[in-house]
Amino acid sequence: MALNSAFRAAVEELRTPGMGTENVGPLLYALVRMTRSWRLMEVGLGYTTPFLAKALKDMATEFEADRTLLSTPGRDERKGVLSVDYYRRNHMAILHAIDDYSVQGSSAPKVLETLRHLELDMVVELHDGDYRGMSRKIDPATLPLDLVWFDCGGLIDYVDFIEEFWPLINADGGMLLLHYTYWDVAKHYTGTEPAQLIPNPIANEIKRQQARAGVNAEFEVLSLLEPHKTRQGSVTVIRKLNRSSMVRDAELEEDLKSFDRDVIRPLPKL
Ligand SMILES: C[S@@+](CC[C@H](N)C(=O)[O-])C[C@H]1O[C@@H](n2cnc3c(N)ncnc32)[C@H](O)[C@@H]1O
Repeated sequence: MALNSAFRAAVEELRTPGMGTENVGPLLYALVRMTRSWRLMEVGLGYTTPFLAKALKDMATEFEADRTLLSTPGRDERKGVLSVDYYRRNHMAILHAIDDYSVQGSSAPKVLETLRHLELDMVVELHDGDYRGMSRKIDPATLPLDLVWFDCGGLIDYVDFIEEFWPLINADGGMLLLHYTYWDVAKHYTGTEPAQLIPNPIANEIKRQQARAGVNAEFEVLSLLEPHKTRQGSVTVIRKLNRSSMVRDAELEEDLKSFDRDVIRPLPKL
């Protein structure tokens, strides 16, 4: 139940160096499992697809094992950290995988064969075609989406995609991950050295909206950069915040009091 050597060997055929997702695959695997994201979407198939599917399968196996553990009498260290409430509900594992097979050199056409070889195809629903309009073809019983990985197209695609699919993302912590959101300015603007990675206009707008919303922001943003790359080297994660995850607009002292906690020293200004 891990990314063992057999898995690594099987997915190697899908790795396309120019797509730059060699670190994103394992990142997605860990994120899905950590955040217990059961309903997934990927736009732009390839190397990353089996990592998402494997995360779902391993997570389902772990879920059943934990459930059994919880119903077994006796003390256990892991039992001590598990939420009994969480294990009362069943979860549907699904990966909606969309591709129109329009890009030459993408490993998308080989994905299904690899999934079958790894016995992961049962958790994947392939949608062949343009992502635009695809929201209408998705079974509403498989919504909302807990994690969406968007790895396709250019600037206008981010706008089109977000317009159609943002409302389908779980308002309670659902995440949207966008690839290649930071640009190398030497390449895109001035041609000068040294190169600097800066948010592209889409990432900038997302961060600007968050900053403008201030304490009322209903999402948070984190960008992960690969400084050794000039392109395809960034992922921006946008996580929706439910009411209880939003910022409490109270200074530390006041906030501590609301938890009946003693006042501690002020936190240094970051
Ligand atoms: C950058 S590649 C995906 C790389 C893949 N995630 C990986 O890790 O190897 C982009 C993919 O998006 C697909 N694509 C491009 N435009 C699309 C569209 N409008 N709708 C659906 N898929 C599209 C291409 O066929 C291609 O397979």
